[in-house]
Amino acid sequence: METLEVSLGERSYPIHIGPGLIADSALLERSVTAEQVLIVTNETVAPLYLARLEAGLKARRTSALVLPDGEQYKTLETFARIVDRLIELRFHRDACIIALGGGVIGDLAGFAAASYQRGIDFVQVPTTLLAQVDSSVGGKTAVNHPHAKNMIGAFHQPVSVLADTDTLATLPGRELAAGIAEIVKYGLIVDPELFAWLEDNIERLIALDAGALAHAVRRSCEIKAAIVAVDEREQGKRALLNLGHTFGHALEAIGGYGSWLHGEAVAIGTMLAANTSHRQGWLSAADCRRIETLLRRAGLPVKAGGVGADDMLEAMTLDKKAGRHGLRLVLLRRIGEAVLTAAPEREVLREVLDPEPGA
Ligand code: NAD
Ligand code: GLY
Repeated sequence: METLEVSLGERSYPIHIGPGLIADSALLERSVTAEQVLIVTNETVAPLYLARLEAGLKARRTSALVLPDGEQYKTLETFARIVDRLIELRFHRDACIIALGGGVIGDLAGFAAASYQRGIDFVQVPTTLLAQVDSSVGGKTAVNHPHAKNMIGAFHQPVSVLADTDTLATLPGRELAAGIAEIVKYGLIVDPELFAWLEDNIERLIALDAGALAHAVRRSCEIKAAIVAVDEREQGKRALLNLGHTFGHALEAIGGYGSWLHGEAVAIGTMLAANTSHRQGWLSAADCRRIETLLRRAGLPVKAGGVGADDMLEAMTLDKKAGRHGLRLVLLRRIGEAVLTAAPEREVLREVLDPEPGA
C-alpha cells in the first residue's frame, strides 16, 4: 500500500492506494472512527463489494443504503434519500458516511455528508478508475441540475480515501477508458512526462497491468493533491483540472446525463479544447495529433457528432467558470502547460464546434 497526503492543515487527509484495502480491518479501523456509520453505494457495486467492506468493518455497527445506478440519479431527489435515511437512523453529528462506488456515489454521498447537520465525516472508497484518479480526492461534492452539471454542491473534504486497486478488475472496459480520460488530463495540464508515459503504456493500462495501474493512480493523485493543497476552493490553479470540462459538461447536460459517460464527454471536450488552442495559435498541429491518437488508443471518443454548435454554446454559458466577464476556458499552450483564459469569440468557438456546417 502507498499513502499520499492532501495537505490542508487541520483538514489534511491520507489517500491510501493498493490492493485489498476494502477488506483491511486494521486500516478501516483507523480510517473510520465514528460509532454511527452509513455506507452509501449502488445496486451494481453492492453485490460486488458491500459484504467485503462490511466484513472489514466488523468492529462497527454499519447500515447501508443501496441507490439506483447512473449519472441520471445524481439529483436532489437521490440526495434527499440519503438525508432521509440519516434521519431515520437518528444519526448524530459525529456520524460518518462511507461512499462505496464511483464518482456518482462519491459526489452524492459527499454532498449529503457536507449538508447533514452542516457537515459530518465521510470516507471515500472509490471503485472506478475515474474515482480513484480524480473524483474521490479534493472535496468537490455535488448533484446535477437538469440544465447544468454539478450545479448544486459544496466543498467538503473526506477524512480519508481508500483506493483499492483490486476493485478495478470488475470494471467494464468502457468505464476504464473513461477514467483514462482524466489521467490524460493531468498529463496535458502539468505533466508532459505522464503524457509520454501514457503513450508508452496505454495497452498495459487497458489490460489492467497492476504496475501500470498503481503508477497511474499514484501519479494522478499526487498531481491532484498538490493542486488542491494550494487552491482548495478553485480561486486559481485548480481551474486547470477542468480542461475539457466546459465542453464536456455541456455535452452531458444536452444528452440528459445518459448519452456519454463523464470521462467520454471529457475526452471529446479535451479534443475541442485542444482544437481551440490550436486555432488560437498556441498548441501545434503535431501536439493536437498526439492528443487525438492517445485518446483514440484508449478507446475514447474524440467527436460528439449530431450536437449543434448553438446548443453547445448555450449550455456552456451555464459553466461554473463563467463569471461577470463571460465564459472562460482552460486551453493548452503545449502538452504539459495549460492556462485559464477568456474564451475566444463566439464565431471561433462555433467553427471549432462545427467545423463542417451543413455537412
Ligand atoms: P459512476 O460513478 O457512474 O461509475 C461508473 C459505473 O461503474 C457505474 O455503473 C458504477 O455502478 C459502476 N461501477 C463502479 N465501480 C465498479 C466496479 N468496481 N466494478 C464494476 N462496476 C463498477 O462514474 P464515474 O466515472 O466513477 O464518475 C463520474 C462522476 O464523477 C460524474 O458525476 C462526475 O461529474 C464526477 N466527478 C467528480 C469529480 C470531483 O472532483 N468531485 C471529479 C471528476 C468527476
Ligand atoms: N475535477 C475537478 C476538480 O476536482 O477540481
